[in-house]
Amino acid sequence: MMWNSVRKVRIVAVASGKGGVGKTNCSVNLAVALARLGKATMLVDADIGLANANILLGLNAPLTVGDVLARQCGLSDIIIEGPAGLKIVPGHNGSGVTAHLDRSDRRRLADVFRPYASTLDYLVLDTGTGIAPEALRLTAMSDLVTIVLSGEPTAFMDAYTLTKVLALDHGITSLAVVTNMVDDEGRGRELFRHFRDVVSRFLPTDLLYLGSVPNDDHVRKAVLRKQCCIEAFPRSQAAQAFGLIAHALAELDPKPRESGDRFFGMEALHGAR
Ligand SMILES: Nc1ncnc2c1ncn2[C@@H]1O[C@H](COP(=O)(O)OP(=O)(O)OP(=O)(O)O)[C@@H](O)[C@H]1O
Ligand SMILES: [Mg+2]
Repeated sequence: MMWNSVRKVRIVAVASGKGGVGKTNCSVNLAVALARLGKATMLVDADIGLANANILLGLNAPLTVGDVLARQCGLSDIIIEGPAGLKIVPGHNGSGVTAHLDRSDRRRLADVFRPYASTLDYLVLDTGTGIAPEALRLTAMSDLVTIVLSGEPTAFMDAYTLTKVLALDHGITSLAVVTNMVDDEGRGRELFRHFRDVVSRFLPTDLLYLGSVPNDDHVRKAVLRKQCCIEAFPRSQAAQAFGLIAHALAELDPKPRESGDRFFGMEALHGAR
């Protein structure tokens, strides 16, 4: 009961059906943009297969979530500071320690993250790609799932499948969408509308448009410089788009949900609310 009253943070999971559509770039830039808006923000690299959010920012991560799970250290020991005071939780890479979280692992994670529930405004989860059950379980532990959708036909179908599995298996019927690597804002909005039309025909899901990020070489150049785009090229179209999306998200002010409580192991308390 106590925890519910003190949970301030909103958990925003960034997900996609298909790999390589720009989840990590969106997560990182969005998290930095939120931090710049003065929101206390934490970026959690929850990509199970290939953790790289910190690499994208040129930051070394001597310790990761894997060390926390192995009880080698606490969460505060692994957090690294990014631009604008952003807190970054580096993900475990490779050997799959986080690929199969058992019950005690999940309890450990809930315990170490819980103190941050009352101090943060946003926790951005860069999640693994696709509909693997373990990746989805984490994606579903959020207040708002944001799907990154690119214009490729396969990305469209895979985003549809993800939307379907989130609705049918996880009861998540309200999602945000960011279109990425589109020609311009108009095209991005068009892509979103097309996606919403298809989804509304077959699924009970409401989709909310958060914004579009253009296909912009500055994103790739920033990656090569090991900086996020909005730091390296603040005037670029992509950087401005990320800023607008952060504004839209803050404006939306997503409500805390039971699914987000689960991230902190608070779900048992939900019924008492
Ligand atoms: N708006 C954009 N304009 C140009 N290039 C982009 C844009 N967004 C992402 N990219 C490029 O697309 C590639 C994939 O991006 P990113 O790593 O963010 O995708 P991802 O969905 O996290 O991939 P994975 O599934 O491997 O985790 C990167 O090379 C990145 O530079
Ligand atoms: Mg990624």
